[in-house]
Amino acid sequence: MEIVVSGIRPTGNLHLGNYFGAVKNFLRLQDEYKCFFFIANWHSLTTHPHPGDVTNNVRKILAEYLACGIDPAKAAIYVQSDVKEVLELYLFLNMNAYLGELQRVTSFKEKARKQPENVNAGLLTYPTLMAADILIHKAHKVPVGKDQEQNMEMARKFARRFNTIYGVELFPEPESYSFGGDAVKVPGLDGSGKMGKSEGNAIYLIDDAATIRKKVMKAVTDSGPTEPNSVKPEPIENLFKMLQIVSSPDTYDYFNEKYNTCQVRYGDLKKQLAEDIINFTHPIRERILDFAANTDYMDKVAKEGADKARESALHTIREVREVIGFK
Ligand code: ADP
Ligand code: TRP
Repeated sequence: MEIVVSGIRPTGNLHLGNYFGAVKNFLRLQDEYKCFFFIANWHSLTTHPHPGDVTNNVRKILAEYLACGIDPAKAAIYVQSDVKEVLELYLFLNMNAYLGELQRVTSFKEKARKQPENVNAGLLTYPTLMAADILIHKAHKVPVGKDQEQNMEMARKFARRFNTIYGVELFPEPESYSFGGDAVKVPGLDGSGKMGKSEGNAIYLIDDAATIRKKVMKAVTDSGPTEPNSVKPEPIENLFKMLQIVSSPDTYDYFNEKYNTCQVRYGDLKKQLAEDIINFTHPIRERILDFAANTDYMDKVAKEGADKARESALHTIREVREVIGFK
């Protein structure tokens, strides 16, 4: 049976980018594969060295995972720091990871630029920890958004390198997974780029209706097309991309037709988009609030998930020790 692994850092609430880039695929995969979905709390220390109440940050994401429909009866849902075997694999992988290649990773360079006072070794070795998360379960598929492509390439490289150095076929090469093939990038509505927590443009699953309306109404637009069938500039393309993601095909076609005939009214489009987002997020928000109130249940889910993940991790790490020579 093929194995699936993915994780999200508990540095804030889940937003539409996380949902459509990653979590939606978790839901598709959990029925068919052996899945491990975790909360990457060690990874969050690379950018948030003082996370404050780690337990609470973790419970927040856990409630959101469950509210989205990740099912503990189908998938192992666990907290990264509950599976210490990952650290041992991280150490072994780091012995065969080279400074040059780690320094060339785009997200490392970006984060180093954003936090020049804290270019720590954890940030540099972020891809080896991520590879350890994946390889510890010998995963075949990793559902992540487009921004994780380079980290995935590193994970594959580390898997191949380990197999070659030790002359084994221990690790499969993990592939990124997105339903329909192409990795998803959910845009922000501030004109350019992706939706993200650190971009400050995120619409969260937990946002209430008024907040969502406010955020969508603020979306960047222009003065409208003057020629029929014009190419959409990026901010407008992004709005349409969001319609495509959350609205019905009819709604998309309606506004697209209006755009192509230069009759589009962005105010109407945004109002419709806001309502469609609210329709989508509202039931999830209700469930998040329910789960969040039930900490005993969440602790039980995390414990059971950790037991399953540790069993799988222990199996791999024993093989790894043996292969390297720790008999
Ligand atoms: P953020 O960028 O908000 O910090 P994370 O880096 O924690 O989000 O991402 C968690 C998961 O969500 C990853 O799989 C990532 O690829 C996915 N993701 C985040 N933002 C987007 C987006 N705008 N479009 C598609 N996927 C995304
Ligand atoms: N780097 C991922 C992100 O920022 C989080 C992550 C850590 C992850 N370990 C992973 C994702 C293993 C998939 C598999 O979103």
